[in-house]
Amino acid sequence: MTHILVTGGAGFIGSHVTAALLAADHDVSVLDCAHPAAHAGPVEVPDGVVLHRADVRDRDAVRHALRGVDAVVHQAALVGLGAGPDDLPEYVGCNDLGTAVLLATMAEAGVRRLVLASSMVVYGEGAYACDRHGPVRPAPRAVAELAAGRFEPPCPDCAEPLTGGLVTEDAPVDPRSVYAATKVAQEHLAAVWARECDGAVAALRYHNVYGPGMPRDTPYSGVAAIFRSALESRRAPLVYEDGGQRRDFVHVRDVAAANVLALHAGPGFRAYNVASGHPTTVGGMAAVLADAFGGPPPVVTGQFRLGDVRHVVASPARAAAELGFRAAVLPASGLREFACVPLRG
Ligand code: UD1
Repeated sequence: MTHILVTGGAGFIGSHVTAALLAADHDVSVLDCAHPAAHAGPVEVPDGVVLHRADVRDRDAVRHALRGVDAVVHQAALVGLGAGPDDLPEYVGCNDLGTAVLLATMAEAGVRRLVLASSMVVYGEGAYACDRHGPVRPAPRAVAELAAGRFEPPCPDCAEPLTGGLVTEDAPVDPRSVYAATKVAQEHLAAVWARECDGAVAALRYHNVYGPGMPRDTPYSGVAAIFRSALESRRAPLVYEDGGQRRDFVHVRDVAAANVLALHAGPGFRAYNVASGHPTTVGGMAAVLADAFGGPPPVVTGQFRLGDVRHVVASPARAAAELGFRAAVLPASGLREFACVPLRG
């Protein structure tokens, strides 16, 4: 049995990670600051778990929380697209300064194993190939193209349509939002730390996480929570673009299981996609959720958000081969369950 510190362990994903670690017979402590972007009410942890109610940027609190700890699972972060440039300092503060303080204090305490909650947003657009030019990386989509309803990114060389593929962990990073940039920086800081301190870091690039305990619709919410909140208020889910955007919706219990497995990852820094392996379109996800909830059916609006990428679909192969991770909950059943459980906050 080992003692694991879960930062952000009272949040949506962190609380499932905490439960999975307890079920796997680990001792668990939680460091959580109850950030208002993630918590409307009081924070709670299960019996037997020590809660350090503190910010990950507070070095003394982190030092205290690391006593007797063998490994850290770092979930504490500000997520989502945010509300605008005003959010920049808080994103960088929580996500990057917070990670820097954690890594420095882990080195000081001799704790050398880290599981880092990263994200598929580090990739920007997913994987694409052109019939003539092979694998290509499309540029951010132009406003005029989106406004004209041309949502598929064209080949950057010949402007012909592209075929989507599976993004693997060795794809170059291409962050397209402040949040994405902070996740890339977290990975880079952790990789340098692993080299300098002989550490082991598994960076789990979560795809679109959903499930029980997901926070209600806020500027920081992912699309599953937004649709679920709309249905609860008897409003139709509003599907942007033409609804053909592809994503991989992965259940939070599977994400928690991946974190437990990642504690046994090899030395050095390694990134892993954490995905269901069963991609769907955003329009398709909305339809399943609305149907399971009993309506109203989704409305495809043709609206768009400038920061959005078109398709991101993961290859789950590396996590399967190296961590033994395979998603147990397929979106078809997980989304139906999600339609029937209450949201947090
Ligand atoms: C999401 C998260 C990101 C997280 C990543 C992986 C947000 C804002 N984004 O990225 O933080 O790291 O998953 O877990 O939390 N859409 C609609 N209607 C809406 C809202 C969105 O159709 O009301 C569409 C968007 O246009 C987009 C898709 O749904 O095409 C996904 O949106 P969203 O979940 O916000 O962002 P991701 O880029 O998938």
